Amino acid sequence: MGEETQDGTVDQYGIVGHPVAQSRSPFIHGLFAKQTGQRMAYRLYDVPSDDFLAHVTRFFSGGGCGLNVTIPHKPAAAAFAHTLTPRAEQARAVNTLKMQPDGTVLGDNTDGVGLVRDLTGNLGLVVAGLRVLILGAGGATRGIVAPLLDLAPAELLIANRTPERARIVAASFADLGPVKGCGFHELEPRPWDLVINATAASPTGGRPEVSPAIVAAGTICYDMAYGQELTRFLHWALAEGAAAAHLGWGMLVEQAAESFYLWRGVRPETRPVLEVLKDWRTPS
Ligand code: ATR
Repeated sequence: MGEETQDGTVDQYGIVGHPVAQSRSPFIHGLFAKQTGQRMAYRLYDVPSDDFLAHVTRFFSGGGCGLNVTIPHKPAAAAFAHTLTPRAEQARAVNTLKMQPDGTVLGDNTDGVGLVRDLTGNLGLVVAGLRVLILGAGGATRGIVAPLLDLAPAELLIANRTPERARIVAASFADLGPVKGCGFHELEPRPWDLVINATAASPTGGRPEVSPAIVAAGTICYDMAYGQELTRFLHWALAEGAAAAHLGWGMLVEQAAESFYLWRGVRPETRPVLEVLKDWRTPS
């Protein structure tokens, strides 16, 4: 069963972000803990950027065991961690911090593996040989490029509103596989097999302004954002004839499961949690 700290209190975890009130992570980790019989607390910490370092330092010096980190603190968390896993180093962004037995804090990034597990496991997609387009070139994109290249797509293109950013991100992963970068307006008018929206447009109700020619009857569209409703990007994609439109709920649950595994050494089952979220999302 669960471990208790020396003073008998329950192991402390949480998510730090700004804003973070809408986060489903406490709910998801609560279900994981119940399912695996782990005794742990998981709280929300709404912390503005100026207070991030002081907050996480206090959390860990006060006996905290682990934190998830979300927007806008992922790069700051990478700078805070004493050690980075190779995937966090590649992403230059950390979504999971873990206190280690020697008193140092490890930084990991479970976003990429979360996306890949959702695409290949939950959605049953075979990415090998597919032409894959990522929209956006920020931290979210940096976290998913290497794990996607591991799946051996025929081609991986990063397109961004600001073309130079896409080219820089692509160049930094070029030794791992066939990845290129370009601007939205430089996209050739031909459809892709899989289009992933990794821009920050969705949460504010926006959509990347890309040509409808990138979508056709065989195109699967995925938005890393999640919510009760399809995003504007996914509505647009379906209206343009895309084969399928997926929100990022599966990625959210899978990255959480990987963080949980890192912290507790137990891998929770994600399917039942996704089922609960699905029921909860569907208005009755
Ligand atoms: P994150 O860590 O979430 O990726 P980020 O590093 O600030 O956040 O990157 C945000 C990404 O979303 C960028 O690719 C940004 O495009 P620019 O580089 O041109 O700024 C993209 N983005 C944000 N709002 C967008 C919008 N309305 N349309 C298209 N792209 C948008």
